Amino acid sequence: MKTVVISLGGSILIPSLEKNRIKEYLPVLREIAAQHRLFVVVGGGGEARRYIDLARSLAIDEGTADEIGILITRLNATFLISALDGDAYPKVAENHAEAKKFAETGKTVVMGGITPGQTTDAVAAVLAERVRADVFINVTSVDGIYSADPKKVKSAKRYDTLTPRQLVEIVGTTALKAGSNNVLDIVAARVVERSHIPLVVLDGNKPKNLSGAILTGTFTGTVVSKNKKNPLPL
Ligand code: UTP
Repeated sequence: MKTVVISLGGSILIPSLEKNRIKEYLPVLREIAAQHRLFVVVGGGGEARRYIDLARSLAIDEGTADEIGILITRLNATFLISALDGDAYPKVAENHAEAKKFAETGKTVVMGGITPGQTTDAVAAVLAERVRADVFINVTSVDGIYSADPKKVKSAKRYDTLTPRQLVEIVGTTALKAGSNNVLDIVAARVVERSHIPLVVLDGNKPKNLSGAILTGTFTGTVVSKNKKNPLPL
């Protein structure tokens, strides 16, 4: 049994209340949890962004907008826990120590954001360190890390592999604002660099990509590790 930490982007799990993939992700997460110790960190998605936009229109400061974003990530985490029913620990972990404690039950542990000034990717990166994960997987809406935002720049190049240093250089140029939409935040990139835990970034539009990657090693995405070695399948 290996330990897996997944950062499940809100833009994938719950882009909006109407268009959510919670139901499709349930069998996938259960399949992974049947074989491995599983932690899932859930993002805020479209609803978080809407609330953050509303906060800005009211001249609310960025730190408070972050706190609002965190509340939405925890709401999404609560939904996922409830939908997983008895397979998830019944409470959203509110910090990393709590997540470790909850995992002692053998259940899947789900959490959202914890502190302003970062995103759930950073939460997941530190969690991966603290639970000594074998792999940290970032499930997002693009199929890997690109030289520029592929949704905006047509000529952007996708990397199959990167070293953690290269990752920090690529994401280091992006701005840190509440609700900002980058493939990975800089805090997460720096933690990946110091922890030496391999990171895999992959496209979660099709939920089966995730179980396929972990269980059979078939995926398109970016592997970030010191020796550029692919840690999958587990
Ligand atoms: P997300 O992690 O969802 O950020 O948190 P995101 O970049 O929008 O990612 P996707 O699109 O869901 O994958 C939503 C917002 O909540 C706040 C930040 O403002 C973030 O942009 N947040 C989240 C924090 O301030 N701290 C946290 O630990 C987590």
